[in-house]
Amino acid sequence: MTSTLQAVAATDHARRVYDNVFQMLPCEENPSPMVRIGRLNPSSTFALFAKLEWMNPFGSIKDRAAWSMLAALESRRELTPGPDGRGIVEPTSGNTGISLAAMASVRGYHIRAVVPNKIPLEKKVLLKICGAQLDVINDELCPAPGVGDGSINLAKSHAKAQANRYAMPNQYENRANVEAHIRTTGPEIWRQTNGAVTHVFLSLGTCGTATGVSTYLRQRQPQIKIIAVQPSEGHDVPGLRNVSQLHATKLFDESLIDEILEVDYELAYIRALELCRVEGLLAGPSSGLILEGAQQVIARETDGLGVMIFPDNIFKYTSNLIKHVPELVEGTSP
Ligand SMILES: Cc1ncc(COP(=O)(O)O)c(C=O)c1O
Repeated sequence: MTSTLQAVAATDHARRVYDNVFQMLPCEENPSPMVRIGRLNPSSTFALFAKLEWMNPFGSIKDRAAWSMLAALESRRELTPGPDGRGIVEPTSGNTGISLAAMASVRGYHIRAVVPNKIPLEKKVLLKICGAQLDVINDELCPAPGVGDGSINLAKSHAKAQANRYAMPNQYENRANVEAHIRTTGPEIWRQTNGAVTHVFLSLGTCGTATGVSTYLRQRQPQIKIIAVQPSEGHDVPGLRNVSQLHATKLFDESLIDEILEVDYELAYIRALELCRVEGLLAGPSSGLILEGAQQVIARETDGLGVMIFPDNIFKYTSNLIKHVPELVEGTSP
């Protein structure tokens, strides 16, 4: 028995054998997969790939930032395990909280997530499944500071009033969020495309992805185009901000983005459904929005190699999707 166990090497990315879930987190040696887009690519001379962040162990791109922020807190010895120890409080539209909650639970830290009521029920339940205590409050879809009772302010006041009980990573201000993408996402894209990438299509929430990926890739290739795709005002795409809401994050650096495309938010759900049905990619709404932006840019370019960073999959958004595509509910009851 022992010899059989010893024969299974710990952390073998090639065979996908791991000693624990943290070793599955993405890095240059263990990148999230990239898959070529077929029929939904309007050009035969512009190659288009999707980088599938839902393949990360906790289901989204936010695994990267969450791990980076948690590891920084641990290295400063700011956390202590146990119900009476010093755990975490964080405002979140869902994904960061889910990643943080799962990781914190493994480590034995308690975690409190402050979420806007408008996030999908699936995300609230997942947060609880992963062990988080929830504060659900009336707030903008993407947590916003400066509004007396906003999620960010409430999390900050918990952290201040109970400093012995909570550390607050604060993904909207924490450089560890950006550094995660400088260390992992950027180098992965460079290596996976053999340095041939010409365009990156992404979205803006905390802006950790955009600022980190652009910082790294521009150092390797100054001509690269970083294109951000944002939903129109009044949107219901969790995790994203309309351009007018970008002031809410300290990680937004406009000089690192070549173009911000604003897209009708309805298209986020329509394109996500097309990705599911045409490419077999079960992509979420922010991925749908990014695809729409990439298609618009490709239509005006002659050639290139584009990488779309698809943040998460559709599983957490079925309740949102049926509002946009009500026919999906037909035939679902006896
Ligand atoms: C579904 C989804 N898409 C996109 C993003 C944007 O990523 P970032 O926060 O790195 O800007 C997020 C961030 O929370 C997200 O949850």
